[in-house]
Amino acid sequence: MKQYRGHAAKVTREKDDDTIRYSDELIEEIRLSNDIVDVVSEYVRLEKKGKNYFGLCPFHREKTPSFSVEPGKQIFYCFGCGKGGNVFHFISLAERLDFADAVKLLADRAKIPLPESEDPREKERAKLRQQVQDINLIAARFFYDALRSKQGEAAVEYLRKRGITEGTIRKFGLGYSYEGWDKLYEHLKSHGISEEAMLASGLVIKGSSGRLFDRFKGRLMFPIFDVRGNVIGFGGRVLDDSLPKYMNSPETVLYNKRKHLYALNFAKNNGGNSIIVVEGYMDAISLHQRGISNVVASLGTALTDSQARLLKKYAEEVIISYDSDAAGQAATLRGLEILNDVGCNVRVLTLPEGKDPDEYIKANGADKFRWLANNALPLVEYKIRVIRKEHDLSVTEEKIKFLNKAANVLVKVDNALEREMYIKKLSREYEISEEAMLSEIIRRTRPAAAQRMKMSKTVETAGKTISAAESTKEKIIHSERFVLSLLCVDNSIYNVVKEHFKIGSYISEENNRIAGILYRRIEEGSGVSPAELMNIVSAEESGIFARILNEECHCDDNEKAILGKIRDIELMKTEMRRDQIIDLLKNRSKLSEDEVDKLESELRELIQELKRIKETPEYRKEGRGRR
Ligand code: CTP
Ligand code: MN
Repeated sequence: MKQYRGHAAKVTREKDDDTIRYSDELIEEIRLSNDIVDVVSEYVRLEKKGKNYFGLCPFHREKTPSFSVEPGKQIFYCFGCGKGGNVFHFISLAERLDFADAVKLLADRAKIPLPESEDPREKERAKLRQQVQDINLIAARFFYDALRSKQGEAAVEYLRKRGITEGTIRKFGLGYSYEGWDKLYEHLKSHGISEEAMLASGLVIKGSSGRLFDRFKGRLMFPIFDVRGNVIGFGGRVLDDSLPKYMNSPETVLYNKRKHLYALNFAKNNGGNSIIVVEGYMDAISLHQRGISNVVASLGTALTDSQARLLKKYAEEVIISYDSDAAGQAATLRGLEILNDVGCNVRVLTLPEGKDPDEYIKANGADKFRWLANNALPLVEYKIRVIRKEHDLSVTEEKIKFLNKAANVLVKVDNALEREMYIKKLSREYEISEEAMLSEIIRRTRPAAAQRMKMSKTVETAGKTISAAESTKEKIIHSERFVLSLLCVDNSIYNVVKEHFKIGSYISEENNRIAGILYRRIEEGSGVSPAELMNIVSAEESGIFARILNEECHCDDNEKAILGKIRDIELMKTEMRRDQIIDLLKNRSKLSEDEVDKLESELRELIQELKRIKETPEYRKEGRGRR
């Protein structure tokens, strides 16, 4: 999901800096018109338990439900993966949309009309996108016709030699770009296309003399489609062994090679639950032609995050079939991790040395390829096999190294049954006791779990590497978030909150920012709900706040809860300062005598203060007014 910080109404786009603005009221109207239980139910089978609904999380793999929806607060939260937020976050994640598009989708669902963007730059950009779209279509037809022309004969012959049928040429819209400098340029000009638009399409380049000429010359042309089948760019292959073998459209307003997958427009409708990823145009085309229709190509780059999420949208399982050379293997491993992270089941199809999928299927047929796909190795086994190759197991030391690394891989397997199965298999294969293997894994479990938690940013005290003061700081920030969350659950505690937490007194800048918005809304009399809080917090933090709202904000007496929290925070702040001073005094050789004196006297005061706070059984604050 793209990042959006701050106000929901202001959505900053990833690449360009144009923003779309909707008013807070409009966003709120859209949110209120899309009940979160209704919306989520379109994606997840929910079951009611008590006040809340539960189901299998759509954002990570699981067998028992840890995904919950709270109709009262209009938020969702997953105990398993930590994702959470309001209905906009849910749609962003489920549909892989940025915030602005999630708002659009839900406005559409509720039949609420959205104002056209007033921003002239946004309008300009939309126009350019449309023009490039038109140019691509004209060019695709031009290349397609060129293939049928006299000059295209060599390209047709080349395709024939490679076993590409007429049907495939048509299905994939293959074409040919004429030799010469400006055939396409002239053609586009005859269609009344402006030079500016031609350049924006990337199909025409400006030379140093200022003259415009075609990017693709004398190449076999592959139109690149988006999921909906629009032509967004092109790849062009030489007909011989000259270099570069392929040339591709540059980044344009439509095309970003890191975000698209070749042939996904065909593969997404194959009806199955898995997608095979290959590297090249020819691999994808060749497999499709032979009836393997669940194939996409990553076009020579290592899989990116966006591509992985795109795949997850259309398939539960992804099978990677890259070249078996070293570079291919490294790319495979990176791709595997990325896919695994977004929650895809990953397997690896390894072809015999030196073969790519196109060559393999031509030599061995579709059934053999299907067999390989069905028997592709699961991620864990593939990783262990790669490690296995790096060690000579007849040498004891090497064998130990191998088993250590294998244990590192197995630690990451969450499912206990699956892990046990691998342990059995390894111990059988490499003659080592299951107990020894298991104890190696258990020994590693704690730091690994800590590491994972650290990555999900939900942990408050992370390991020994963080100083006591740092870890207390994290706890304070968490408590501040609780205060802000509870304020949204119960606006009537505002006076107490405001009295103790002036804007600027939160130790996290982000919390100060959020408080600023919440206080203003409440002062203005418009109030603020938990689901609205979700619009205000940053995308990375929505899960954290959702968890607090879900797990902690169930107090019988909200005012009492807040006062308790205020006391905790005061205590922690004092402790944090104490720990900082202790840390400073550890290096007293670096301090002057005067400084040491000052610190020591502050330390004494802090210790008194701590005693005082701890002795106050229930925090009492003079002169707090009820409303
Ligand atoms: N690629 C590229 N530019 C290059 C080489 C490769 O963009 N100079 C991309 C292309 O998308 C290509 C993919 O990487 O399809 C895989 O490269 P490679 O295996 O070399 O090509 P094949 O697809 O196997 O093409 P062919 O079989 O026609 O040689
Ligand atoms: Mn090839």
